[in-house]
Amino acid sequence: MAKVRVAIIGVGNCASSFVQGLHYYRNAKPNDFVPGLMHVSLGGYHIRDVEISAAIDIDKNKVGRDLSEAIYTWPNNTLVFAKVPRSGISVHRGMTHDGLGKYLSKIIQKAPGSTVDITKLLRDTGTDVVVNYLPVGSEEATKWYVEQVLEAGCAFVNCIPVFIAREAYWRQRFEKRGLPLIGDDVKSQVGATITHRVLAHLFDDRGVRIDRTYQLNFGGNTDFLNMLERERLESKKISKTGAVTSIIPYALPEENIHVGPSDYVPWLKDRKWCHIRMEGTTFGDVPLNLELKLEVWDSPNSAGVVIDAVRCAKLALDQGIKGALVGPSSYFKKSPPIQYPDEVARQLTEDFIRDPQSELRLRKQPSLARAGAAHAIGHGLSTNGSRRLTSRPAKASPVGEDGGPRRPRKPAKKAPAARRSR
Ligand SMILES: NC(=O)c1ccc[n+]([C@@H]2O[C@H](COP(=O)([O-])OP(=O)(O)OC[C@H]3O[C@@H](n4cnc5c(N)ncnc54)[C@H](O)[C@@H]3O)[C@@H](O)[C@H]2O)c1
Repeated sequence: MAKVRVAIIGVGNCASSFVQGLHYYRNAKPNDFVPGLMHVSLGGYHIRDVEISAAIDIDKNKVGRDLSEAIYTWPNNTLVFAKVPRSGISVHRGMTHDGLGKYLSKIIQKAPGSTVDITKLLRDTGTDVVVNYLPVGSEEATKWYVEQVLEAGCAFVNCIPVFIAREAYWRQRFEKRGLPLIGDDVKSQVGATITHRVLAHLFDDRGVRIDRTYQLNFGGNTDFLNMLERERLESKKISKTGAVTSIIPYALPEENIHVGPSDYVPWLKDRKWCHIRMEGTTFGDVPLNLELKLEVWDSPNSAGVVIDAVRCAKLALDQGIKGALVGPSSYFKKSPPIQYPDEVARQLTEDFIRDPQSELRLRKQPSLARAGAAHAIGHGLSTNGSRRLTSRPAKASPVGEDGGPRRPRKPAKKAPAARRSR
């Protein structure tokens, strides 16, 4: 069987869990249940068929080291569940740009020397798929790397909230080069986003009006340290908020929804704690409140999803399917070009795995063309991050338009003052 040659940009905690996972499950049998993977063998590609072709970072502690050492090097602090043997792949010096923000630049020193020729590196290593694991807020760096990826002719899996797959400009660039793209911002196995989406869906399904909600996250990894710099968070906030509001078929006033990272607690290491509160109204205008706390190890939580995503990207490469993959992006990512309810997104991805050409049929659906423009903009969020309060947010699913009418919903009424104080 052919291999899936994967290059990693950013050898942080997520890369560590990804690389550990490839080793940990290398001997899984086709019928084994592997938590967090759709299939041991996905479209004919076993987990062990995913090979790391190259790794890129700018941290002086990581550049030049064998990948098997770099993934355990401080400030990486995720759980070690596999001891990866020497790989023979040394970490290459990337281009810093805006990769290091105010807080990361206090603890990470840039490696000396100049940036390697990334396009040449990707070509020489026979890379099929490039995974972006840069820190939040790396706008310029991501776009710079994307240019190298396009030049080298690789597929791209964007795990961070810098909008590439969601932007028409970048989608067209990939289409023109005949390359596939999955993005943006990885949706973890059971993380804050999917949990919040499921709860929002539950409220909607059971006719509970959502009046107010928040999702507060904190953790002790460099991702949370970096996110203390609020200026770097604009796209993260759009991505996380949009992932939740796209499930709610009416507009919530801006002041009634808050989703975001809240703090950095070093002793949590790569653990993330998430608190969700939902306040709603039930029959008789009676209030209903829900509180939930989720504790996860952040990076392993997304690694299986990315192992599936890179194999889908390779299937698209094999079959000449270009541009943003609408089905797989909706399942694997928080901010896909088109949002679908999660069960629909999973089915579309299973369909894609069975027959990648199903992606082309999906794109031809008239509802998709109609819904595409609205969804691509940002699921009820304007591109500058403020919520569109007057207009209805993009509906959760173009399938809703196709597959029968969704119940018409009135916009949320303002809760009476007495209820609000509860
Ligand atoms: N479950 C999850 O962990 C999850 C979910 C959604 C999104 N993400 C996103 O994935 C990304 C990676 O997360 P992480 O926890 O691995 O972060 P991390 O801070 O552990 O790793 C980032 C790595 O990028 C390197 N880097 C910084 N600038 C660079 C540059 N210009 N070129 C090359 N390397 C550079 C850093 O040195 C570091 O090794 C983050 O943007 C995060 O928000 C993670």
